[in-house]
Amino acid sequence: MAIRDLNELEFVETLQGYLTPSSPVQRLQLLRGRREQVTQITRAFHSKGRHVFIFGDRGVGKSSLALSVANFLCAEDDRPIQLACNSETFFSLARNLASQLLGATPVNGGVSGGSIGLAGYGLSATLEGQLQAREVPELTSLNEVVSVIRYCVDKHLQERVVIFDEFDALPNDADRGLFADFIKQMGDQSVPIKMLFTGIGQSLESLLAAHHSCYRYLASVSLSPLNWDGRLAIINAAAEALGIEVDMSTQYRIGAISDGFPHYIHLICEKLFWEIFDDPEDISQVTPELYRRAIEAAVQDIEPFLQELYETATRKYNDDYQEVLWAVADHHEFERRSTDIFLSYQDIMKQRPHPAMDRTRFNTRMNSLKKDSHGAILIGTRQGWYELREPILRGYIRLRAERDGVALAQDHPQDTGARTLQLFKDKRAPQ
Ligand SMILES: Nc1ncnc2c1ncn2[C@@H]1O[C@H](COP(=O)(O)OP(=O)(O)OP(=O)(O)O)[C@@H](O)[C@H]1O
Ligand SMILES: [Mg+2]
Repeated sequence: MAIRDLNELEFVETLQGYLTPSSPVQRLQLLRGRREQVTQITRAFHSKGRHVFIFGDRGVGKSSLALSVANFLCAEDDRPIQLACNSETFFSLARNLASQLLGATPVNGGVSGGSIGLAGYGLSATLEGQLQAREVPELTSLNEVVSVIRYCVDKHLQERVVIFDEFDALPNDADRGLFADFIKQMGDQSVPIKMLFTGIGQSLESLLAAHHSCYRYLASVSLSPLNWDGRLAIINAAAEALGIEVDMSTQYRIGAISDGFPHYIHLICEKLFWEIFDDPEDISQVTPELYRRAIEAAVQDIEPFLQELYETATRKYNDDYQEVLWAVADHHEFERRSTDIFLSYQDIMKQRPHPAMDRTRFNTRMNSLKKDSHGAILIGTRQGWYELREPILRGYIRLRAERDGVALAQDHPQDTGARTLQLFKDKRAPQ
């Protein structure tokens, strides 16, 4: 035990309070670098009938933003309703929502439980009876869904907050269309409920396709990778709570590896703090050896989805593909020209034990990485330009390179990184 005088239980509790590599952030106090989006969402909800759609790359922090804001908006004794859209239909989700709304209804609370309170919902007598008994039958039409949800919402004293997570995973386009009409109806009928949707995508249009009529009922929140302040804030809050000093150089390297995808920051810090805790010496600072071990542990513990993509792309031959991928991930720009990637590659190869490939072979490797045989890990955007199919993978590629002693992404985006870079230069620890 080597962190202050914390025993293991105290250490774990503190760690879990700040680092959650495998689950979304739940509270605004722990949500870093998203102030602007939080304001955008809370303001959108001031308009009656407006709902919110958060979209962005896989792993960028959509569920965390939705959940933290939803928890903040809920009454103290209430929790948001969370519904995952994968493998569901519009009607199954609506039914689930209705039962959860009813399930949370106080027995004698809300609008009168008697039939007087039911007037105006347009429900059949049978359906009324079922809802009063808190049973939700299968729903089959949009009108029915809207009436049932309106009834369930009115039964509740407090305004409910609902998250429809992973909207992109709704298998059927017709269901997206029904959702679009549902959002519109809920707005037109001023049903007092706040709905947040999240989805992987580059735009709201890509997720709702042709269902334009509901756009003005939705505030669309586009989520980019975390800026530098947000990245460092995750590290510093956890380090401070544990009484550990993480030097600027280490902070910078973790932030750079993460590429703004916060999962990596949580994961590396978690591993790092465990290394410190397990060290027999009573230490409160990060040493290069502890950092190295933390990177190794993070590589081992990465989610299989990312590992598989990397392995499929690189495993077949020698190190060639791996080094080409490292070169792809060596910059903050998502889309890069192959000429620039080749320059990165030449730099990287100066640190490697074997010679670099020439440009022709390098190009062949780049092209292969676009093919299914290599998991189509790269996509060609326009002539001579490339990007990773899954942007979150860049962090893992950087992590793998770091493990092999190659520090990538020593470049810095001008807007968000300049201040950090200056701080980093000022305080740079000796190697
Ligand atoms: N703003 C933030 N501050 C601190 N940690 C964050 C933030 N956003 C996300 N995280 C952390 O990053 C990881 C990924 O977040 P989250 O699950 O919210 O992403 P997502 O975009 O919903 O992912 P997916 O596309 O896989 O559903 C989690 O470990 C979460 O705790
Ligand atoms: Mg999510």
